[in-house]
Amino acid sequence: MAGSDALVAAARKARENAVADFSHFKVGAALETASGEIITGCNVENASYGLTICAERVAIFKALSDGHRAFTRIVVVADTESPTPPCGACRQIIWEFCGDIPVVLANLTDVTATLSMKDLLPLPFDKGLLGR
Ligand code: THU
Repeated sequence: MAGSDALVAAARKARENAVADFSHFKVGAALETASGEIITGCNVENASYGLTICAERVAIFKALSDGHRAFTRIVVVADTESPTPPCGACRQIIWEFCGDIPVVLANLTDVTATLSMKDLLPLPFDKGLLGR
């Protein structure tokens, strides 16, 4: 398992690649796989706005497409004093593909909060309700 610092550092580095020409709000994410690899993501915005994808979902979709299926932690980094938590869409995706993992929120200098997915999405809709 990568140290917490390595995961936070990777998210901070990924944030530098954010394509945030419209909001100027750069976000980085780093996802730890069960095998100890780190897969990163940044937010990617575009002119139609609504097709924007958050850093968390980029990291998760990259990891899934590389064949990873089990995850242990995710770090989200934004340049804010108070913690920047995942949006509702990302909470759904993190829950469905990562389960009840710790979500570590950090800024450019500090870790500002660590929350569990269960607390961030208390009554989830998921495949259990579909009988899967
Ligand atoms: N954003 C993320 O990438 N992750 C979050 O947790 C919050 C929001 C992005 C989406 C958009 O590009 C910008 O931040 C402003 O909402």
